[in-house]
Amino acid sequence: MHSFAYKNGLLYCENVNLQELADKEGTPLYVYSKHTILSHFHRLRESLEPLNAEVAYAVKACSNIAILNLMARNGAGFDIVSGGELFRVIKAGGDPAKCTYAGVGKTEKEIRYALEQGIYCFNVESEAEMRAINDIAASMNLTAPVAVRVNPNVEAGTHKYITTGKSENKFGVDFEQIESLYEMAARALPHVHLKGLQMHIGSQLTQAKPFMEAVRKVAPLAARLKEKHGIEFFSIGGGIGIVYQNSLESGVQEWWNEDCAQLTLSTYAQAVVPVLQPLGLHIIVEPGRLIVGNAGALITRCLYEKSGKAKTFKIVDAGMNDLIRPALYQGYHEIIPVREHLSESCITADVVGPICESGDFLAQDRKMTDVRQGELLAVLSAGAYGFSMSSNYNSRPMAEEVLVDGGQWSVIRRRQTWEDLIAGETIPE
Ligand code: LLP
Repeated sequence: MHSFAYKNGLLYCENVNLQELADKEGTPLYVYSKHTILSHFHRLRESLEPLNAEVAYAVKACSNIAILNLMARNGAGFDIVSGGELFRVIKAGGDPAKCTYAGVGKTEKEIRYALEQGIYCFNVESEAEMRAINDIAASMNLTAPVAVRVNPNVEAGTHKYITTGKSENKFGVDFEQIESLYEMAARALPHVHLKGLQMHIGSQLTQAKPFMEAVRKVAPLAARLKEKHGIEFFSIGGGIGIVYQNSLESGVQEWWNEDCAQLTLSTYAQAVVPVLQPLGLHIIVEPGRLIVGNAGALITRCLYEKSGKAKTFKIVDAGMNDLIRPALYQGYHEIIPVREHLSESCITADVVGPICESGDFLAQDRKMTDVRQGELLAVLSAGAYGFSMSSNYNSRPMAEEVLVDGGQWSVIRRRQTWEDLIAGETIPE
């Protein structure tokens, strides 16, 4: 369930009137609900209760330090993929000892920093990286905690850009090569400590089956590695999908599809708990989208309307630099007016941004309320991979971010200025 709903004809986030908020703070504006974030986090934890699983929030989904602080205060660990993300977690008050560090291209500087900070584990994605970590740890007189990311070659049934667990993806080490890599490390790399095993098969999964297939395939491997090398944890990655469509039908949204036999927290738990429980390992999950996806909306203002021979366009002040998911993955985001339109006919329109690219759209051929120039729109389910993927393309300042808590709200990132755009740039003499 999320916390965006109409009250008296206006859209609210929790008890904050989004019309008033946007009039005051300007647009484009990212708004997040604290209540939704925490309720998703706790519901996932509860559903995995029999495993006593650790929830390691995937920082990349939404990496504002206020959100990270919220997660840290509620006991989350963190799945990080760069030195910059580790820096953010630490600045937010998170514990490096609860960070697992994934990614195929960790640099020496990042590995050193993570070792200095004492992270929980590196999730290693190749033999070459394992050797590099061993050498860097040796030079620091340390032993590095490592797990290997296994690529289980399982079909995740999601968009090809966010499928990660197939052999043709760059991620992880082939299932068949894993054990020899552990053997080699145990034999020849004295500065690594084999601490766990990790996998992640993809993002925005909407069926329980791929998770079930993957854990069934990998659990026996985890058991063998525990026996031979004494590993202590198995991280099954993130990837739990959310509902992007028809989200406001009943005022509040059930964020999973309880009635269409699709992925729900209970089918997820049913798929993984019985397989993982007998392992006796510390289990980690790494959700990003599930926690923040439906907790965030992007508020944008309609600048102009135009109708041509082929299409009607609603030109808004948020572009692909603010939310790239529609352009990059054909991602669908529900778009609704902030002022509720009762009994008005729908039109079919493209909602497009100001960027000089034809790929700059938030929706195409969308049946939607006929909002007028000057009106506000809310692009829903934009909390995950929204702001965190934004850029300054077309020299557009990045949006402001606001965190709502009941009837209160706080600016958690101020809007960038034009001066911010050129900060750090110099003209040679
Ligand atoms: N763990 C690892 C190792 C990952 O690579 C990811 C996401 C996650 C956890 C979290 O996955 P989630 O629970 O959020 O599905 N930008 C894309 C999604 C990219 C996901 C990358 N990895 C999008 O907007 O759909």
